[in-house]
Amino acid sequence: MKVLVKNEEILEICKGIGEELTKKLKGKTPLVVGVLKGACPFLCELVKYIDLPLEIDYVQISSYVGTRSSGNINIKKDLDIDIDGRDVVIVEDVIDTGITLNNLKKLLETRNPNSLIFVSLLDKPSKREVEFKADYIGKEIDDYFVVGFGIDVNEKYRNLKDICIYKE
Ligand code: IMP
Ligand code: MG
Repeated sequence: MKVLVKNEEILEICKGIGEELTKKLKGKTPLVVGVLKGACPFLCELVKYIDLPLEIDYVQISSYVGTRSSGNINIKKDLDIDIDGRDVVIVEDVIDTGITLNNLKKLLETRNPNSLIFVSLLDKPSKREVEFKADYIGKEIDDYFVVGFGIDVNEKYRNLKDICIYKE
């Protein structure tokens, strides 16, 4: 498969975003939340560069059945940690239609966090169906279906070190 983002570039992205978050959240104890499963490798690399006493948690959201834009998401695994008053950094692998993070944002806002920051390794702005703008994006890409560095097709290829354009 053709490599779209090399591992070296991904690590540079993690360093850059991690350092920016360190400055932005100085003096805070952020809760870094990974969206399972795809964001795991990105989160693990990113937190190495966030020089703060942070905590880590995970949320898992099931894929939409039928009514994609209904405004509802199905939480398969909820957070273990209460976000009331917390500075929460949501870490996602790739934003496509925007539906997942748009809905997750609405849900988390009802839980009274002090702040919500959205970070995504990749963004496909041309695919947006609902309005969503992340605070930090690693790289904008065209309308490719990608795999690797956590990103899967039917649970496969998450272990590729680079992000590749999927080809059967
Ligand atoms: P959205 O709700 O359409 O923004 O979709 C976001 C989710 O769709 C991501 O968390 C991924 O799980 C999945 N996804 C979007 N684009 C890709 C891709 O190119 N490869 C694999 N999964 C993708
Ligand atoms: Mg995902």
